[in-house]
Amino acid sequence: MVSEEKKTQTTHISTKIMKKVLVTGAAGYIGSNLTEYLLNKGYYVVGLDNFNEYYDPKIKRFNIESFKDHENFKLYETDICDKSAVSNMFNEEKRFDSIVHLAAWAGVTYSVKNPDIYVDVNITGSHNLITQAVKYGVGSFIFASTSSIYGDNKTPFVETMNTDMPNAPYPATKKAVEVLLYTYHKNFDLKTTIFRFFNPLGPKVRPDLALPKLIRASLYGYEFPIYMNPESSKRDYTYIVHMMEAIEGAMNKQFDYEIINLGNSNPVSLIDLMNSVEKVVGNPIKTKELPLPGQMQITYANVDKAKELLDYNPKTSLDEMIDIYYKWFLDQPEWYRKIKLEK
Ligand SMILES: NC(=O)c1ccc[n+]([C@@H]2O[C@H](COP(=O)([O-])OP(=O)(O)OC[C@H]3O[C@@H](n4cnc5c(N)ncnc54)[C@H](O)[C@@H]3O)[C@@H](O)[C@H]2O)c1
Repeated sequence: MVSEEKKTQTTHISTKIMKKVLVTGAAGYIGSNLTEYLLNKGYYVVGLDNFNEYYDPKIKRFNIESFKDHENFKLYETDICDKSAVSNMFNEEKRFDSIVHLAAWAGVTYSVKNPDIYVDVNITGSHNLITQAVKYGVGSFIFASTSSIYGDNKTPFVETMNTDMPNAPYPATKKAVEVLLYTYHKNFDLKTTIFRFFNPLGPKVRPDLALPKLIRASLYGYEFPIYMNPESSKRDYTYIVHMMEAIEGAMNKQFDYEIINLGNSNPVSLIDLMNSVEKVVGNPIKTKELPLPGQMQITYANVDKAKELLDYNPKTSLDEMIDIYYKWFLDQPEWYRKIKLEK
């Protein structure tokens, strides 16, 4: 039997060594996967999210269901644009070993129609966090940027390419924060890692993205919107677990300032993705033409830098990713499986 004194001592030791991470956007697709991953690895996670309405907040409540009561998790329902609420949260929590900043308005096409919200949240909201991170001396600040920052560059995309000409306001806001972070690194020594994510796939993937839409189209006969030539438009789908391993690596390495692609380096055409889904689910997919402004023809990452700095090894094939997602999807409640989304 463990004595009371010993128990207190153990808890004390374990809280002392437990690393504390702030995950913004913790109820979103990537944030909820990352939070769960970090909790399983023994981190203490403070999650921040305002459960916005880009897609149904019910989905976000569902995303955090499995860990919301975890003893090492604490949730702030806070808007990053609310400067005093963000400041209060930092004042209460004091310091973080790392901040992984994922909260944002994502989605390229929606940003063409609604640029204001992207500028307000993605730039000003990020700035509110960055200033607090400097004030409280965070160990490392990790920022989620995007492959769409590369616009019409030649593929494969390398981190050193000029990214001053993105195709939509969404990647333009991400570029602005990349640059802002550089100045905070330069002036205040903020340790910064910027990850340019390439089409992450995994459980809870955002309902407005291609894979969940295709699965639902094949299962329930919904129409899938084709927005580009399906033969020539390609995406570099990447298994989310490899990305989370890289994020954890960056948390521990505390780079000075690095921009790192996280992709699969193996782009797949939309027609191939559709064929794979039809094969797995078993029904043909009905399509309708719906041009979506702001989209790129191809995303394709060069991942040499991630391999060198983080031993990054994106070894999961698209078929495996579809399989993992589809098995997970079939286990979810009916309301979730049947979500119909117009975005
Ligand atoms: N999923 C992708 O394909 C992809 C690709 C490249 C980059 N990214 C980036 O990764 C990050 C996470 O993306 P995701 O796919 O998980 O998106 P998501 O929309 O599922 O998650 C974002 C979360 O941020 C929250 N949020 C938005 N505005 C907020 C605010 N003002 N205050 C607090 N919380 C707020 C939302 O409620 C949401 O839960 C984003 O920064 C996105 O730009 C995603």
